[in-house]
Amino acid sequence: MTSPVPESLAKAAIAVLNRNWAGSHTLPATGLYPHQWSWDSGFIALGLRHVDPDRAQQELESLLNGQWDDGRLPQIIYDVSRDDDYSPGASFWRSGEHPDAPIVPTTGLIQPPNHAWAAWEVHRTNPEASERNSFLSRVYPRLVAWHEYLATRRNRGGNGLASVVHPWESGMDNSPLWDEALARVPDTPKHEIRRPDLQHADAGERPSAKEYGRYFWLAEQYRDHGCNDLEGEDSFVLEDPTFNALWARSELALADIARTIGKDPAPHDERAQALTDALETLFDTDLGLYVARDVTTGALVRKSTISGLIPLILARLHSAQPVLQTLMGPGFLGSKPHMVPSYDIRADDFEPAQYWRGPAWFNMTWLVILGLRTHSAPDAGAQDSGLYESEAQRLATNLQELAVRHGFPEYIDPLTGAPHGTRNFSWTAALALDLLKAETAQ
Ligand code: SER
Repeated sequence: MTSPVPESLAKAAIAVLNRNWAGSHTLPATGLYPHQWSWDSGFIALGLRHVDPDRAQQELESLLNGQWDDGRLPQIIYDVSRDDDYSPGASFWRSGEHPDAPIVPTTGLIQPPNHAWAAWEVHRTNPEASERNSFLSRVYPRLVAWHEYLATRRNRGGNGLASVVHPWESGMDNSPLWDEALARVPDTPKHEIRRPDLQHADAGERPSAKEYGRYFWLAEQYRDHGCNDLEGEDSFVLEDPTFNALWARSELALADIARTIGKDPAPHDERAQALTDALETLFDTDLGLYVARDVTTGALVRKSTISGLIPLILARLHSAQPVLQTLMGPGFLGSKPHMVPSYDIRADDFEPAQYWRGPAWFNMTWLVILGLRTHSAPDAGAQDSGLYESEAQRLATNLQELAVRHGFPEYIDPLTGAPHGTRNFSWTAALALDLLKAETAQ
């Protein structure tokens, strides 16, 4: 692949971020996802920090405005003027009726906690802009409350890892990791299932009608129990490796933030280490990567998905060497796909255009690049550090080129590079821009 033209990539990526800017935050995509999404904003801030540090801060603070009194950061903050354009909408959740909910309408569910990490990176890129706005002091208590929510309300398995109670919470909605647990969930919700998403992406690239039935049933059950995690039902409770790895990475960032503003970093460093240790309970020796654990049965969900590779973002990961081997092996990068597939390409049910069942996503590839670089650093002690760095470079080049060539797609076929899902997708633009800036800064 030829290298991208930096000028045109930067211009096009910034144009996408401007087009999707909604005044205080960025829409993931103006048609398919017309509200503010939680982990999207974390990734988007990582791109915006290079363009407009104030706007990057605002992106995260506007998400924090949706925080509940119990500390949870919601998966979506709704724009009620677009309530017909996405389902389930604000009228499904009716968050205003909940005593802990904020003024702005939100879901009751959450998404992976990449926010403290994003906040720290936003600060690091432009400390002057951050200090001018007392950014870190303002966001720190709210980020601490968010992590406390995870530690106290989501420790459903009792080993310190957070559980997700809905596939939407993982951000990887129809990952094969959820199939078995979802099969136990009824697909007959009371609420009418509307699919405005199918106006913006092909049905073959989105979760199925049966999956949507189950998603709505679970969401309804959670809502009808007052979004109460302590007295909730046990229909779907799973520990996911990516969710917990991002939490550990964010906990390390909270330690950095605490050090910078004169607070005690020790509790954050300790929790990051405890989470890193607890992640080992999800390590599958035979598959050579991390898997999910179904908390309702105690069983590991033995499937090789991208989620099990993302813990590589942790420098102190215990099983980094076998996971690096799996990443470089035939299921993922061995045949040199364009970007990292979301599911082992040898699996019988691998589908290269089906949302989280095969396509390569830009955020996950960005995280894998970081993971490779984390473990190829001179002090990481890896035997194959040159190999990991050259693979990271190949992926970074492909990511930028595919992003700009196909109009910033949501995901791609990892084998052919063909674009899928929606276009002008914000985190694709933000993360391509981030890699470009890292290269030009070298
Ligand atoms: N990913 C979900 C959707 O596709 C929302 O979080 O609608």
